[in-house]
Amino acid sequence: MARVSWSGMMLALETSCDDTCAAVMTSEGHLLSSVIHSQDVIHKKYGGVVPEVASRAHAERATVVVREALEEADAGIADLGAVAVTVGPGLIGALLIGVNTGKAIAWARRLPLIPVNHLHGHLGSMWLTDPDAPFPFLALVVSGGHTMLVRVDSHRDFTLLGQTLDDAAGEAMDKAARLLGLGYPGGKELDQLAEHGDPTAYSFPIALRAADNLNLSFSGVKTAMYYLLRDMSPEERIEHAADVAASYRAAVVEALVSKLLRAAVSERVAGIAIGGGVAANSLLRQRVQTEGRAKGFHVVVPSFELCTDNAAMIASAALYEDALPYPTYLDLEATASLTLGQRVSAGA
Ligand code: KG4
Ligand code: ZN
Repeated sequence: MARVSWSGMMLALETSCDDTCAAVMTSEGHLLSSVIHSQDVIHKKYGGVVPEVASRAHAERATVVVREALEEADAGIADLGAVAVTVGPGLIGALLIGVNTGKAIAWARRLPLIPVNHLHGHLGSMWLTDPDAPFPFLALVVSGGHTMLVRVDSHRDFTLLGQTLDDAAGEAMDKAARLLGLGYPGGKELDQLAEHGDPTAYSFPIALRAADNLNLSFSGVKTAMYYLLRDMSPEERIEHAADVAASYRAAVVEALVSKLLRAAVSERVAGIAIGGGVAANSLLRQRVQTEGRAKGFHVVVPSFELCTDNAAMIASAALYEDALPYPTYLDLEATASLTLGQRVSAGA
């Protein structure tokens, strides 16, 4: 496969789900701008992401977001040396908007195009946060669509050690938030409510806790939430909402932290890191920091903006992905079901 080197500034695009994002980074890895247009307000009224609506919103915003990212970086199209774009996994219509916008800009300036796996992007947020973090490290990627434990041996070598067998942790947070009437997506609101509650008030199941593997499962805890609330009166639901949220959050976070630390110890890694939208959870951040450090691990916890979907993480990952030379990428395809470690190139 043909690869090229490049220099100057890179424009990165991310449109895999419901955030339209663009960022500008130098080839040395300095982040110059990162712009995120969230579509939460649009999808709120449907209670979830509507793929066709998301694609249209990306199409309307893509050029605006690119312009804003360039302006914020005090750069123009002429300063670009490469364009990076998320090619998957994600919603196919949403991905296509980013991929075609990226191709068009790269082609117009005869620049190389760097296809990036969104999951590698979440890992990229970790080395963007702490470029000197030692390898190997154990990464927990927790978002609305993914929950994975990954051994990271270099900027390009990743091994999937365990993952959820059913719902993603973010999905479990969002569904519980919905049952509690906290709105959409709800993970953040559940987290805020949980801060005011007693985490020991209710007992929620922690699936696969004793299992001799690194997989996770969140369908049981979600069902337990449904039955607990079903058996309460409307008044009780209001009165105990904070305690219910705190107990539920504690169970989900315990499942994540215990498997992350168990994996890190058995893999004898130097450090641990978290990424993805659920890594914005305050209890998860706090427990990973204190318990990780107590066990002697180097701990990387990215800022909130780098946890939820953004293009800065795509740029950070793109520094280590293959740049395809002009104009070989014109037949590059967006891929909805890309897995960790998978890389797509033109003509794939
Ligand atoms: O990474 P992300 O922005 O998009 C996906 O790739 O899915 O993650 C979104 C998920 C949603 O489920 C959202 O509720 C959750 O991250 N989330 C949180 C928090 N902030 C966002 N979950 C728990 N606590 C939070 N503070
Ligand atoms: Zn994501």
